[in-house]
Amino acid sequence: MHRNQCIGIVGCGNMGFALADRLFLCGFTVVMGSRYPDKRNGTQYEIVSIVECIRRSPIIFIAIHPEHYIDSLVSHIEHEPLLFNEKILIDLSNQTCKKLNLNDSSNAEQLQTAIPNAFVVKAFNNISSFAMESTTAGESRNIFVASDHSTAKDKIITLAREMNFGSFDVGSLRAARHLENDTQSLFPEWQIPIIVTLVVLSIWLIYTLCMEYVSTHTTSWNQLFLNIANKTLCTSAITMLAIVYMPSNLACIFQLAYGTRELQFPIWLDRWLLRRKQFGILTFAIALSHSIMTLILMTPAYYSTWFHHVEIIISTIQNQTRFVVESGLMTAKGELASLLGILTQLCMTILAVTSIPAVGNLLNWREWRFIQSKLGIVTLLLAIGHVVAMALPRWIAVGVAKAFYNLGLLCLYFPLLTLLLKFMFWLPCFSRRLHRIRRGENTKKPIQPKQIA
Ligand SMILES: Cc1cc2nc3c(=O)[nH]c(=O)nc-3n(C[C@H](O)[C@H](O)[C@H](O)COP(=O)(O)OP(=O)(O)OC[C@H]3O[C@@H](n4cnc5c(N)ncnc54)[C@H](O)[C@@H]3O)c2cc1C
Ligand SMILES: NC(=O)c1ccc[n+]([C@@H]2O[C@H](COP(=O)([O-])OP(=O)(O)OC[C@H]3O[C@@H](n4cnc5c(N)ncnc54)[C@H](OP(=O)(O)O)[C@@H]3O)[C@@H](O)[C@H]2O)c1
Ligand code: HEM
Repeated sequence: MHRNQCIGIVGCGNMGFALADRLFLCGFTVVMGSRYPDKRNGTQYEIVSIVECIRRSPIIFIAIHPEHYIDSLVSHIEHEPLLFNEKILIDLSNQTCKKLNLNDSSNAEQLQTAIPNAFVVKAFNNISSFAMESTTAGESRNIFVASDHSTAKDKIITLAREMNFGSFDVGSLRAARHLENDTQSLFPEWQIPIIVTLVVLSIWLIYTLCMEYVSTHTTSWNQLFLNIANKTLCTSAITMLAIVYMPSNLACIFQLAYGTRELQFPIWLDRWLLRRKQFGILTFAIALSHSIMTLILMTPAYYSTWFHHVEIIISTIQNQTRFVVESGLMTAKGELASLLGILTQLCMTILAVTSIPAVGNLLNWREWRFIQSKLGIVTLLLAIGHVVAMALPRWIAVGVAKAFYNLGLLCLYFPLLTLLLKFMFWLPCFSRRLHRIRRGENTKKPIQPKQIA
């Protein structure tokens, strides 16, 4: 793009001036359009009337609120029908008060309908005026560009890159419905995973409190903040890990039942499948908290069965007192359970690191799937091993009936089911059929209409 080309900005507000500064620093000539150009004088930019600004610029940023599009832009067509002819109008607006229904037209589409001879491009709406002016703002610097006019869209993608932003083609102007809504939402993909995590944590907290303080009265309230919290965290971590790996099993069950990949999954399963990254990262955070808490508590006082007992022998022979103290080393159970816990945490860290886009981009599709899917299952297996290693002697000691509702076994039912289904769908009888379905084959014969006798 020619740097001496004049770029127009309609609107002398926060965004208008932020854009002007950025364009100026990148070497472009800027002309700004205002309702009151005389009042706006005294800035370093040339400020003219809105009509004059549009006449002089082939590319114009519309930095005014969408409710003013009609009176400040569209109304000028009446006096000058060719004012917007072949001009590229960059719509920056967002939905302000209500979220757009995806069947409703976006601001950008309405602008295109109102000015059909212009090329409307949706872009820059996700960048704040603060980020536009600053080089250190931490928010995203990627711009999503949508338009029904491919040449205009390409020009704006190039312009955004020349303004030092990453820019991406996101399709036709209809994509503006998504883009305008996006800035309205606060962590939309995280809401369900956070609620589910809180529910899981609450269930395990209530169960642990009941077992420790109501049923057995063995624990002091002093131990509420680390010891009891740790029991809640570890059981929640393994439950959450199973929540991450269960939905692909359900996807297999639905696909086998449908016999085709053409039928849609129920909406709840679709959402579950799409939120696995968020579930995974929350799982990692909970498991890491458990590991850290455990390292603080790792003493015979808290985990007596993990350490050899310290014996103090008081001998009264020859009227002398003698202390023999053993070195409190860990038992095999303690060492094995710790090792398996550490390995689980290590694998989960690899999963978390590869979920960072910059790292994920270094892997090809097969490598990424291998880590996320296969190493993920190994992580679940290690977590189960960690629990079994520490709890098996306890289950044997208390007997089958009591072990049934023991915390260690209770938190394993869901992960074991997840793992069992995973292995089951790897069996050739299922995996071959699933493979055929995923290649587009219809494995169920269509029902023949009844022959009329
Ligand atoms: C710390 C951590 C970080 C994570 N980060 C990420 C991340 O960045 N991104 C991410 O996606 N996940 C992430 N996860 C979640 C999880 O690791 C991945 O989703 C993983 O690919 C799930 O493996 P899977 O074998 O259960 O399912 P998949 O490998 O997805 O699928 C197994 C089979 O199920 C079927 N299936 C799955 N989804 C669909 C679908 N939508 N439609 C039709 N069939 C389907 C397919 O046939 C597929 O072959 C993370 C997990 C953890 C613990
Ligand atoms: N601010 C941001 O961080 C940001 C980020 C992304 C997108 N956006 C979008 O950019 C657009 C502008 O936002 P902004 O924050 O710059 O708004 P703003 O500070 O309120 O400025 C809007 C400007 O519009 C002009 N305008 C034209 N016709 C108008 C009318 N009839 N009534 C009132 N003002 C009129 C005014 O300039 P004159 O008085 O000189 O005519 C005014 O300064 C909005 O669509 C917004 O959604 C803003
Ligand atoms: C550094 C790594 C880890 C260490 C040292 C460790 C250690 C421990 C300890 C000492 C306990 C006993 C807690 C108690 O009874 O109060 C425990 C329990 C448990 N841990 Fe870990 N852990 C680690 C990582 C993990 C991870 C990553 C997970 C799961 C994803 C996990 C899942 C569990 C579960 C489910 C229990 C409960 C078992 C039971 O009560 O029988 N641990 N762990």
